[in-house]
Amino acid sequence: MYFCKLVYVDKMKTIVLGIESSCDDTSAAVVCDGKLYSNVINTQSIHYKYGGVVPELASRAHQQNIVLVVKEALEQAKISFDDISAIAFTQGPGLLGSLLVGSSFAKGVAIAKDIPIIGVNHLQGHMFAHFLREKDEEEFIPKFPFLCLLVSGGHTQIIVVESYTKYEIIGSTIDDAAGEAFDKCAKVMNLGYPGGPLIDKYAQTGNPNKFKFSKPNVADLNFSFSGLKTSFLYFLRDQIKENENFISENLPDLCASLQFQIVDILLEKLSKAVKQTGITEITISGGVSANSGLRTKLTELAQEKNWTVHIPKIRYTTDNAAMIALIGYYHFLDGKTNGLDIVSVANLAQLS
Ligand code: KG4
Ligand code: ZN
Repeated sequence: MYFCKLVYVDKMKTIVLGIESSCDDTSAAVVCDGKLYSNVINTQSIHYKYGGVVPELASRAHQQNIVLVVKEALEQAKISFDDISAIAFTQGPGLLGSLLVGSSFAKGVAIAKDIPIIGVNHLQGHMFAHFLREKDEEEFIPKFPFLCLLVSGGHTQIIVVESYTKYEIIGSTIDDAAGEAFDKCAKVMNLGYPGGPLIDKYAQTGNPNKFKFSKPNVADLNFSFSGLKTSFLYFLRDQIKENENFISENLPDLCASLQFQIVDILLEKLSKAVKQTGITEITISGGVSANSGLRTKLTELAQEKNWTVHIPKIRYTTDNAAMIALIGYYHFLDGKTNGLDIVSVANLAQLS
Protein backbone atom coordinates (compact mmCIF):
# COMPACT_ATOMS: atom_id res chain seq x y z
CA MET A 1 0.00 0.00 0.00
CA TYR A 2 2.76 2.41 1.04
CA PHE A 3 4.80 1.42 -2.02
CA CYS A 4 1.81 2.14 -4.32
CA LYS A 5 1.39 5.55 -2.82
CA LEU A 6 5.06 6.41 -3.38
CA VAL A 7 4.87 5.35 -7.00
CA TYR A 8 1.73 7.42 -7.45
CA VAL A 9 3.30 10.55 -5.93
CA ASP A 10 6.41 10.11 -8.01
CA LYS A 11 4.39 10.12 -11.21
CA MET A 12 2.23 13.01 -10.22
CA LYS A 13 2.87 16.44 -11.68
CA THR A 14 2.71 19.54 -9.52
CA ILE A 15 0.29 21.90 -11.24
CA VAL A 16 -0.38 25.40 -9.94
CA LEU A 17 -3.12 27.65 -11.29
CA GLY A 18 -2.20 31.33 -10.79
CA ILE A 19 -4.63 34.25 -10.71
CA GLU A 20 -3.59 37.92 -11.12
CA SER A 21 -6.13 40.70 -10.60
CA SER A 22 -4.23 43.48 -8.82
CA CYS A 23 -5.00 46.30 -11.25
CA ASP A 24 -6.50 46.33 -14.75
CA ASP A 25 -5.35 42.97 -16.12
CA THR A 26 -7.37 39.84 -15.44
CA SER A 27 -4.98 36.97 -15.90
CA ALA A 28 -4.77 33.23 -15.26
CA ALA A 29 -1.83 30.91 -15.88
CA VAL A 30 -0.86 27.29 -15.39
CA VAL A 31 2.59 26.23 -14.23
CA CYS A 32 3.34 22.51 -14.35
CA ASP A 33 6.48 21.23 -12.62
CA GLY A 34 7.95 24.73 -12.82
CA LYS A 35 7.22 25.24 -16.53
CA LEU A 36 4.63 27.55 -17.97
CA TYR A 37 1.82 25.80 -19.84
CA SER A 38 -0.51 28.77 -20.38
CA ASN A 39 -0.79 32.47 -19.57
CA VAL A 40 -4.00 34.24 -20.54
CA ILE A 41 -4.27 38.01 -20.04
CA ASN A 42 -7.34 40.16 -20.54
CA THR A 43 -6.35 43.83 -20.39
CA GLN A 44 -9.39 45.91 -19.51
CA SER A 45 -10.00 48.52 -22.18
CA ILE A 46 -12.78 50.30 -20.27
CA HIS A 47 -10.23 52.59 -18.58
CA TYR A 48 -8.78 54.08 -21.76
CA LYS A 49 -11.42 56.75 -22.10
CA TYR A 50 -10.91 57.92 -18.50
CA GLY A 51 -7.15 58.36 -18.90
CA GLY A 52 -6.37 56.03 -15.99
CA VAL A 53 -7.63 53.01 -14.07
CA VAL A 54 -11.04 53.54 -12.41
CA PRO A 55 -10.99 51.15 -9.41
CA GLU A 56 -14.75 50.40 -9.32
CA LEU A 57 -14.80 49.62 -13.02
CA ALA A 58 -11.70 47.46 -12.68
CA SER A 59 -13.31 45.25 -10.00
CA ARG A 60 -16.45 44.88 -12.08
CA ALA A 61 -14.48 43.97 -15.21
CA HIS A 62 -12.46 41.38 -13.24
CA GLN A 63 -15.73 39.76 -12.15
CA GLN A 64 -16.92 39.70 -15.72
CA ASN A 65 -13.66 38.27 -17.09
CA ILE A 66 -12.28 35.92 -14.49
CA VAL A 67 -14.26 32.78 -15.25
CA LEU A 68 -13.57 32.97 -18.99
CA VAL A 69 -9.90 33.80 -18.50
CA VAL A 70 -9.40 30.84 -16.14
CA LYS A 71 -11.33 28.52 -18.45
CA GLU A 72 -9.12 29.57 -21.36
CA ALA A 73 -5.91 29.09 -19.32
CA LEU A 74 -6.98 25.56 -18.34
CA GLU A 75 -7.94 24.73 -21.92
CA GLN A 76 -4.65 26.00 -23.33
CA ALA A 77 -2.75 23.94 -20.74
CA LYS A 78 -4.98 20.94 -21.60
CA ILE A 79 -5.92 20.35 -17.96
CA SER A 80 -9.09 20.55 -15.85
CA PHE A 81 -9.75 21.85 -12.33
CA ASP A 82 -9.30 18.25 -11.12
CA ASP A 83 -5.63 18.26 -12.13
CA ILE A 84 -4.63 21.30 -10.07
CA SER A 85 -2.36 20.74 -7.04
CA ALA A 86 -2.77 24.27 -5.62
CA ILE A 87 -4.19 27.66 -6.52
CA ALA A 88 -2.10 30.83 -6.18
CA PHE A 89 -3.44 34.36 -6.33
CA THR A 90 -2.10 37.91 -5.98
CA GLN A 91 -2.58 38.90 -2.35
CA GLY A 92 -1.30 42.45 -2.86
CA PRO A 93 -0.27 45.17 -3.37
CA GLY A 94 -2.96 46.48 -5.67
CA LEU A 95 -6.49 47.87 -5.79
CA LEU A 96 -8.44 46.23 -2.99
CA GLY A 97 -11.66 45.66 -4.95
CA SER A 98 -9.68 44.08 -7.78
CA LEU A 99 -7.62 41.91 -5.45
CA LEU A 100 -10.79 40.65 -3.75
CA VAL A 101 -12.15 39.28 -7.03
CA GLY A 102 -9.02 37.14 -7.51
CA SER A 103 -8.81 35.98 -3.89
CA SER A 104 -12.52 35.11 -3.69
CA PHE A 105 -12.31 33.14 -6.90
CA ALA A 106 -9.23 31.30 -5.64
CA LYS A 107 -10.95 30.48 -2.34
CA GLY A 108 -13.96 29.10 -4.21
CA VAL A 109 -11.73 26.78 -6.25
CA ALA A 110 -9.73 25.77 -3.16
CA ILE A 111 -12.91 24.78 -1.30
CA ALA A 112 -14.54 23.06 -4.26
CA LYS A 113 -11.47 21.02 -5.14
CA ASP A 114 -10.05 20.68 -1.62
CA ILE A 115 -6.64 22.02 -2.65
CA PRO A 116 -4.26 24.44 -0.90
CA ILE A 117 -4.41 28.16 -1.51
CA ILE A 118 -1.30 30.37 -1.77
CA GLY A 119 -1.21 34.17 -1.49
CA VAL A 120 1.56 35.72 -3.63
CA ASN A 121 3.15 39.14 -3.38
CA HIS A 122 2.73 40.84 -6.76
CA LEU A 123 6.17 42.47 -6.55
CA GLN A 124 7.85 39.15 -5.87
CA GLY A 125 6.09 37.92 -9.00
CA HIS A 126 7.63 40.71 -11.10
CA MET A 127 11.07 40.06 -9.58
CA PHE A 128 11.04 36.41 -10.58
CA ALA A 129 9.46 36.78 -14.02
CA HIS A 130 12.94 36.01 -15.41
CA PHE A 131 12.66 32.47 -14.09
CA LEU A 132 9.63 31.66 -16.25
CA ARG A 133 10.31 28.91 -18.77
CA GLU A 134 7.86 27.68 -21.34
CA LYS A 135 7.44 23.92 -21.70
CA ASP A 136 10.78 22.52 -22.95
CA GLU A 137 12.56 25.83 -23.23
CA GLU A 138 15.83 26.30 -21.32
CA GLU A 139 16.38 29.84 -20.15
CA PHE A 140 19.27 32.03 -19.26
CA ILE A 141 18.20 32.72 -15.68
CA PRO A 142 19.77 35.17 -13.19
CA LYS A 143 22.30 33.92 -10.69
CA PHE A 144 21.95 34.88 -7.04
CA PRO A 145 22.67 37.42 -5.72
CA PHE A 146 21.32 39.82 -8.33
CA LEU A 147 20.11 43.41 -8.37
CA CYS A 148 16.57 43.92 -9.60
CA LEU A 149 15.40 47.29 -10.91
CA LEU A 150 11.64 46.93 -10.47
CA VAL A 151 9.87 49.63 -12.42
CA SER A 152 6.11 49.59 -12.78
CA GLY A 153 3.07 51.84 -12.61
CA GLY A 154 3.04 51.67 -8.82
CA HIS A 155 6.65 50.93 -7.84
CA THR A 156 10.22 51.94 -8.53
CA GLN A 157 12.68 49.97 -6.45
CA ILE A 158 16.17 48.55 -6.45
CA ILE A 159 16.25 45.19 -4.70
CA VAL A 160 19.14 42.93 -3.71
CA VAL A 161 17.83 39.42 -4.34
CA GLU A 162 19.77 36.72 -2.52
CA SER A 163 17.34 33.83 -2.96
CA TYR A 164 13.66 33.14 -3.63
CA THR A 165 12.86 34.12 -0.12
CA LYS A 166 15.61 36.54 0.88
CA TYR A 167 15.73 40.03 -0.58
CA GLU A 168 16.18 43.60 0.54
CA ILE A 169 14.87 46.83 -0.96
CA ILE A 170 17.85 49.22 -1.05
CA GLY A 171 16.22 52.06 -3.03
CA SER A 172 12.67 53.25 -3.59
CA THR A 173 10.76 56.18 -4.99
CA ILE A 174 9.85 58.83 -2.47
CA ASP A 175 6.87 60.01 -4.57
CA ASP A 176 5.71 58.88 -8.03
CA ALA A 177 6.75 55.64 -9.69
CA ALA A 178 8.55 55.68 -13.07
CA GLY A 179 5.45 54.29 -14.81
CA GLU A 180 3.35 56.99 -13.19
CA ALA A 181 5.74 59.63 -14.57
CA PHE A 182 5.28 58.19 -18.08
CA ASP A 183 1.49 57.98 -17.66
CA LYS A 184 1.04 61.45 -16.14
CA CYS A 185 3.23 63.18 -18.72
CA ALA A 186 1.37 61.35 -21.50
CA LYS A 187 -1.90 62.58 -20.04
CA VAL A 188 -0.64 66.17 -20.14
CA MET A 189 0.05 65.65 -23.86
CA ASN A 190 -3.43 64.10 -24.33
CA LEU A 191 -1.91 60.85 -25.50
CA GLY A 192 -4.25 58.43 -23.75
CA TYR A 193 -3.70 55.64 -21.25
CA PRO A 194 -1.45 53.84 -20.52
CA GLY A 195 1.00 56.50 -21.59
CA GLY A 196 4.27 54.56 -21.24
CA PRO A 197 3.94 52.51 -24.43
CA LEU A 198 2.74 55.59 -26.38
CA ILE A 199 5.65 57.75 -25.26
CA ASP A 200 7.96 54.85 -26.15
CA LYS A 201 6.39 54.64 -29.62
CA TYR A 202 6.65 58.37 -30.42
CA ALA A 203 10.15 58.56 -28.92
CA GLN A 204 11.48 56.19 -31.60
CA THR A 205 11.66 59.00 -34.17
CA GLY A 206 12.43 61.90 -31.81
CA ASN A 207 15.61 63.68 -30.72
CA PRO A 208 16.36 62.81 -27.05
CA ASN A 209 18.58 65.88 -26.65
CA LYS A 210 16.08 68.43 -27.95
CA PHE A 211 14.57 69.40 -24.57
CA LYS A 212 15.96 69.24 -21.03
CA PHE A 213 13.76 68.62 -18.00
CA SER A 214 14.65 68.85 -14.33
CA LYS A 215 16.65 66.05 -12.78
CA PRO A 216 15.88 65.20 -9.13
CA ASN A 217 18.46 65.43 -6.45
CA VAL A 218 17.55 62.61 -4.10
CA ALA A 219 19.86 61.03 -1.56
CA ASP A 220 21.13 57.46 -1.56
CA LEU A 221 19.51 55.00 -3.92
CA ASN A 222 16.07 56.57 -3.76
CA PHE A 223 14.15 58.04 -6.70
CA SER A 224 11.80 60.96 -7.24
CA PHE A 225 9.71 61.62 -10.32
CA SER A 226 7.19 64.24 -9.21
CA GLY A 227 9.59 67.15 -9.91
CA LEU A 228 10.19 65.93 -13.45
CA LYS A 229 6.45 65.68 -14.05
CA THR A 230 5.92 69.24 -12.78
CA SER A 231 8.81 70.65 -14.80
CA PHE A 232 7.39 68.92 -17.90
CA LEU A 233 3.95 70.39 -17.21
CA TYR A 234 5.27 73.95 -16.70
CA PHE A 235 7.50 73.70 -19.75
CA LEU A 236 4.53 72.72 -21.94
CA ARG A 237 2.31 75.42 -20.41
CA ASP A 238 4.90 78.10 -21.27
CA GLN A 239 5.46 76.80 -24.79
CA ILE A 240 1.74 76.52 -25.54
CA LYS A 241 1.36 80.22 -24.61
CA GLU A 242 3.68 80.98 -27.56
CA ASN A 243 2.43 78.29 -29.93
CA GLU A 244 -0.82 76.44 -29.36
CA ASN A 245 0.32 73.60 -31.63
CA PHE A 246 3.56 73.11 -29.74
CA ILE A 247 2.76 69.56 -28.60
CA SER A 248 1.61 68.22 -31.95
CA GLU A 249 4.53 69.89 -33.77
CA ASN A 250 7.13 68.49 -31.34
CA LEU A 251 5.62 65.21 -30.17
CA PRO A 252 8.46 62.79 -31.08
CA ASP A 253 11.13 65.14 -29.63
CA LEU A 254 9.10 65.71 -26.45
CA CYS A 255 8.62 61.97 -25.96
CA ALA A 256 12.26 61.13 -26.76
CA SER A 257 13.59 63.83 -24.40
CA LEU A 258 11.27 62.81 -21.57
CA GLN A 259 12.07 59.12 -22.00
CA PHE A 260 15.79 59.92 -22.11
CA GLN A 261 15.52 61.74 -18.77
CA ILE A 262 13.51 59.00 -17.03
CA VAL A 263 15.89 56.29 -18.27
CA ASP A 264 18.88 58.38 -17.22
CA ILE A 265 17.50 58.77 -13.68
CA LEU A 266 16.88 55.02 -13.42
CA LEU A 267 20.27 53.96 -14.75
CA GLU A 268 22.21 56.49 -12.69
CA LYS A 269 20.80 54.99 -9.49
CA LEU A 270 21.28 51.47 -10.75
CA SER A 271 24.96 52.22 -11.45
CA LYS A 272 25.28 53.63 -7.94
CA ALA A 273 23.70 50.45 -6.54
CA VAL A 274 26.19 48.28 -8.46
CA LYS A 275 29.06 50.34 -7.03
CA GLN A 276 27.66 50.14 -3.52
CA THR A 277 26.91 46.40 -3.49
CA GLY A 278 29.52 45.06 -5.91
CA ILE A 279 26.76 42.99 -7.57
CA THR A 280 26.99 42.97 -11.38
CA GLU A 281 24.20 40.48 -12.13
CA ILE A 282 21.30 42.77 -13.07
CA THR A 283 17.62 42.29 -13.90
CA ILE A 284 14.84 44.69 -14.81
CA SER A 285 11.19 43.91 -14.16
CA GLY A 286 7.72 45.46 -14.23
CA GLY A 287 5.77 47.32 -16.90
CA VAL A 288 8.41 50.01 -17.52
CA SER A 289 11.01 47.32 -18.26
CA ALA A 290 9.20 47.03 -21.63
CA ASN A 291 10.53 50.48 -22.50
CA SER A 292 12.80 50.28 -25.54
CA GLY A 293 14.97 53.19 -24.39
CA LEU A 294 15.62 51.53 -21.02
CA ARG A 295 16.31 48.14 -22.63
CA THR A 296 18.77 49.60 -25.15
CA LYS A 297 20.59 51.89 -22.73
CA LEU A 298 20.90 49.19 -20.08
CA THR A 299 22.28 46.72 -22.63
CA GLU A 300 24.87 49.32 -23.76
CA LEU A 301 25.80 50.18 -20.18
CA ALA A 302 26.17 46.49 -19.32
CA GLN A 303 28.59 45.96 -22.22
CA GLU A 304 30.62 48.98 -21.18
CA LYS A 305 30.75 48.00 -17.49
CA ASN A 306 30.89 44.24 -17.94
CA TRP A 307 27.61 43.55 -16.13
CA THR A 308 25.38 40.56 -16.88
CA VAL A 309 21.88 41.83 -17.62
CA HIS A 310 18.61 40.00 -17.91
CA ILE A 311 15.97 41.76 -19.96
CA PRO A 312 12.54 40.11 -19.66
CA LYS A 313 10.42 39.01 -22.59
CA ILE A 314 7.93 41.78 -23.34
CA ARG A 315 4.98 39.55 -22.41
CA TYR A 316 6.31 39.11 -18.86
CA THR A 317 7.00 42.79 -18.20
CA THR A 318 3.45 43.97 -17.51
CA ASP A 319 1.02 42.26 -15.15
CA ASN A 320 0.48 38.56 -15.78
CA ALA A 321 -0.54 35.47 -13.84
CA ALA A 322 2.43 33.41 -15.08
CA MET A 323 4.70 35.10 -12.54
CA ILE A 324 2.10 34.53 -9.78
CA ALA A 325 1.72 30.84 -10.65
CA LEU A 326 5.52 30.41 -10.63
CA ILE A 327 5.95 31.93 -7.16
CA GLY A 328 2.94 29.88 -6.04
CA TYR A 329 4.74 26.78 -7.33
CA TYR A 330 7.92 27.64 -5.35
CA HIS A 331 5.86 28.27 -2.20
CA PHE A 332 3.98 25.01 -2.70
CA LEU A 333 7.24 23.05 -2.94
CA ASP A 334 8.41 24.79 0.25
CA GLY A 335 5.15 23.85 2.00
CA LYS A 336 4.19 27.54 2.28
CA THR A 337 0.43 27.45 1.82
CA ASN A 338 -2.19 29.68 3.46
CA GLY A 339 -5.41 29.17 5.40
CA LEU A 340 -8.74 30.11 3.84
CA ASP A 341 -8.83 33.13 6.15
CA ILE A 342 -6.02 34.82 4.13
CA VAL A 343 -6.95 38.43 3.29
CA SER A 344 -6.04 40.71 0.38
CA VAL A 345 -3.80 43.64 1.32
CA ALA A 346 -3.82 46.76 -0.87
CA ASN A 347 -0.49 48.10 0.37
CA LEU A 348 1.30 44.83 0.98
CA ALA A 349 4.78 46.21 1.41
CA GLN A 350 6.71 43.43 3.03
CA LEU A 351 7.79 40.97 0.40
CA SER A 352 7.22 37.47 1.76
O1 KG4 B 1 3.75 46.24 -14.05
P1 KG4 B 1 2.59 46.95 -14.64
O2 KG4 B 1 1.81 46.25 -15.72
O3 KG4 B 1 1.54 47.30 -13.55
C1 KG4 B 1 1.87 47.67 -12.26
O4 KG4 B 1 2.12 46.78 -11.44
O5 KG4 B 1 1.94 48.91 -12.06
O6 KG4 B 1 3.13 48.36 -15.16
C2 KG4 B 1 2.30 49.26 -15.81
C3 KG4 B 1 3.13 50.48 -16.13
C4 KG4 B 1 2.29 51.64 -16.68
O7 KG4 B 1 2.66 52.81 -15.99
C5 KG4 B 1 2.74 51.72 -18.14
O8 KG4 B 1 2.67 53.02 -18.70
C6 KG4 B 1 4.17 51.25 -18.05
O9 KG4 B 1 4.11 50.17 -17.12
N1 KG4 B 1 4.68 50.76 -19.33
C7 KG4 B 1 5.66 51.40 -20.02
C8 KG4 B 1 5.83 50.68 -21.23
N2 KG4 B 1 4.96 49.63 -21.23
C9 KG4 B 1 4.26 49.70 -20.06
N3 KG4 B 1 6.38 52.48 -19.71
C10 KG4 B 1 7.31 52.89 -20.62
N4 KG4 B 1 7.51 52.26 -21.80
C11 KG4 B 1 6.81 51.16 -22.14
N5 KG4 B 1 7.04 50.56 -23.31
ZN1 ZN C 1 2.69 44.96 -11.73
